[in-house]
Amino acid sequence: MDGRLDGTERKQKSVVIQEGWPGYNLELFNYPEHYHGDIENVYIPHGVIMDRIESIARDILEDLGQHTLMVLCVLKGGYKFCADLVDSIKAQSRSTNCPLTVRVEFIRLKSYLNDRSTEDLHITGPDDLSVLRGKNVLIVEAIVGTGKTMMSLLKHVVTFQPKTIKVAGLLVKQGPNGAAMLPDYVGFVIPNHFVVGYALDYNEYFRDLDHICVISEKGKLKYKV
Ligand code: IMP
Ligand code: MG
Repeated sequence: MDGRLDGTERKQKSVVIQEGWPGYNLELFNYPEHYHGDIENVYIPHGVIMDRIESIARDILEDLGQHTLMVLCVLKGGYKFCADLVDSIKAQSRSTNCPLTVRVEFIRLKSYLNDRSTEDLHITGPDDLSVLRGKNVLIVEAIVGTGKTMMSLLKHVVTFQPKTIKVAGLLVKQGPNGAAMLPDYVGFVIPNHFVVGYALDYNEYFRDLDHICVISEKGKLKYKV
């Protein structure tokens, strides 16, 4: 990536959640009844996610305004982040008179089984991403864990010869197994917990939860495959 900020600066430009953060008590928030007992806490409330996205959208507009932006949404986990980010970019582009044409493409990746990253990365998006050629591409991914997925995806995207590639990651995990790469735009740096909600899943469950939450041991057992 060719961002203006180096790794330390990018980390400073994100919200860093420390290892000891216990999250918010579940009783203080609304969440679907069917996940009762399956999550430990509300780790990042939906409203905070939305506020942070507004700020990332502003940074993107400052860096890439006046151009055409080709957003590459990484499914499935990235669908909410991508939709909310593009909405915010559009709204701010209108209100600041900073024109930016946004186009959106989708790619589907799968590498996790239960809460473990597997070597087996499946890209099942469109085979032909030649629409990216010569474009300013923004890859939008909900979470960068080990970074393996993003590294493979970057290799794949480069073959279509975009003009520039930037990456926006809502969450980046830190710690010994944490991210080997840091996106250009980072929402939150978090400790190495398995989190769900806001379209992030555990074996396809919890995408219908608005807040980002830490899954409980009971939840892991209940939805294990
Ligand atoms: P990585 O290859 O370890 O960086 O993993 C990236 C992918 O794994 C993401 O696209 C997610 O689909 C998934 N993933 C990693 N950590 C989590 C998590 O805490 N919750 C849900 N999905 C995760
Ligand atoms: Mg997943």
